Parts: sequence; structure tokens; C-alpha cells
Amino acid sequence: MSFLDQIEPLKQQALVDFNNASDLQSLDQVRVEYLGNQGKFTALLKQLGSLSKEEKPAAGKQINLAKVQMEAALAERREMLELQSALPKNPTDFTLPGRRHKLGKLHPLTQVTDDIVRCFRKLGFVVADGPEIEDDYHCFDALNTPADHPARDAQDTFHLGGSNRQLLRTHTSSVQIRVMEKQSPPIRIIVPGRVYRRDNADATHNPTFHQIEGLYVDKHVTMSDLKGTVEFVFKQLLGDEVKLRFRPHYFSYTEPSMEIDFSSPVVKKMGKDWLEIAGCGMVHPQVFKTVGYDPEVWSGWAFGFGIERIAMIRYGITDIRLFYQNDVRFLAQF
Ligand code: DAH
Repeated sequence: MSFLDQIEPLKQQALVDFNNASDLQSLDQVRVEYLGNQGKFTALLKQLGSLSKEEKPAAGKQINLAKVQMEAALAERREMLELQSALPKNPTDFTLPGRRHKLGKLHPLTQVTDDIVRCFRKLGFVVADGPEIEDDYHCFDALNTPADHPARDAQDTFHLGGSNRQLLRTHTSSVQIRVMEKQSPPIRIIVPGRVYRRDNADATHNPTFHQIEGLYVDKHVTMSDLKGTVEFVFKQLLGDEVKLRFRPHYFSYTEPSMEIDFSSPVVKKMGKDWLEIAGCGMVHPQVFKTVGYDPEVWSGWAFGFGIERIAMIRYGITDIRLFYQNDVRFLAQF
């Protein structure tokens, strides 16, 4: 076979072998086989010197062209194999069905709070917030609570001291004052939040628990608005069988004041006819004066109830401490 006739088939064979190399190592072996010092193509190049003067230019041109093409093919294959080796060994199969992960859940108290907030939102209430470290003024004075009231006793309240006589708020009612100080009526707020009292923990008491406060101030607000509102929310939360009873009571920041009792099949199961669930009343004119509202123009009502108590009734829980122990066997049930 003439020299020229050998170039093309050898090049073609080399290109096929390059493309068949399945990894970088075997590609290098194939490279050496053709282009190494002892390689088949190198051997052909070496023969160039023995050609006649007439044959040499054409043969040289062709063999160099073949060499350039082979080197380009080699580089291309190498790049491709390098890319491949950088890919993960077991690539992700995106067509596999999804795997279910066990997601966490919201704490039962958070779930109940969210439900309560949702009910009040339907009636146009918005959520307000205030500090848990409160001062004497917002927790007691501005709520018309006299200095000798038992709630102010060191036995009942966590006092922190300081120039503002700071304390851990004993109820969310302090937020009523903070909101009315900043906004003018009409007001329609609820305040879910944590409160603190110096109680020893037992099945129905804990030194910290949660309340929801409500405040509605406008012109011509009446007690029947209060009763209708509370009844709507409790029926939404605990079912249509619930019955509510309003009983006269005393709070320094409302006049008249009432306690709300609650009855339902669950309460009956607990061996009781009625369960006390909330305090409420018409906002005391003195409270309006303190925040700068004219009690001749504005009227309003307020209420406050315990979130734990509602959650206990809803789920039939008999020990309040379960809410704070974070035992997953308890929490996973909600
Ligand atoms: N602050 C009271 C408590 O902690 C509950 C309460 C009663 C809130 C009457 C009110 C209210 O807003 O008007 O027991």
C-alpha cells in the first residue's frame, strides 16, 4: 500500500478508537497506541523522510492535516470524559416517586390560638401585641386597680423592681392600655399572649400560661354585642352544643363586670355543670379617662380568657402541665 493510502484508514481507525475509550485512562492508552513514540501514526510520520522529493510535499500536508484532526478529536473526547468523571457516581433519579418525611406539628396551644384568632378576624378584630415585662402602671394603675388590691401582692406577682416597678404581666389586659394610649377609637383588637403568676404548678395551675384579651371601643357599643360576639366564637371553637352563662363579678377596669361560665357535654363528663372560662365587662369610664378617651362619647367592652382552659376542654386534657413538658408522645396527638 502506498504511503498516502495508509494515512486515511489509520486516522479513521484512530478516531473510532478514541470515541470508544470509556474513561480517561483508556483514552490515554489509545493515544499512546497511535501518537506515542512507538505509536502507529508516529511510525507513519517517521516514514515521511524516506519519500522522494516529489512525493514529500503532498504527503507531508496530508499527514499533518490528519494529525491535527486526530489531536482535535482526542481533546474533544478527553473533555467529555473529564466532565463525565465529575458527575456523581449514583446520579439522582428525578423520576422516582417522592418520599414522605414526617413533618413537625404546631403545638396544641398554638393551634387553638390560631383558631381563636381566625374566629375573631371574621368579626373584624385585629391582633395587637405588648410586652411581657410590663410596668406597674400598665398592669394595674391604668386599669384602675387600687394599690391595696391582692393582685399587686408580692405573693401573686413576679416583681422585677427597677424605677418603673417592672413585673411580669399577670394578664394581657395591660395591652388594652398600651393600644388605647397610641390609637384613637374605634378599636377592635384581640391580644393573645403569655402571662405570669406566682402559682405552684398543679393539674390546673402553672406559673406561666396564655390568655386572649379582647377590646372593642366605638360609639353605642352594648353588652349584647359582647354576648353575641363571645357566643359566636365559642360555638365556632367548641361546637354548637355549648351554652354560655354570664354571672355578675368584679373587675376594677369594667363596670358592670361579669364572669362567663361555659357548659357542654365535655364539661358534664368532667362531672361539672358549668366551668368558669372568662372575665369581661363594659370598660370602666375611669379607664377611658386615663387614656384620654371621653367616656361620654365612647363606650366599649373587654374580655380576657385562658387559652389553656379552652384547649383542655377541646381535647379533654386534664393536666395543664402536659402543655409545657414537650413530650413528643403527647404533642404528636394533635
Ligand atoms: N384580666 C382578667 C384576668 O386575668 C380577665 C379579664 C376580665 C379581662 C375582665 C378583661 C376584662 O378584659 O374586662 O382574670
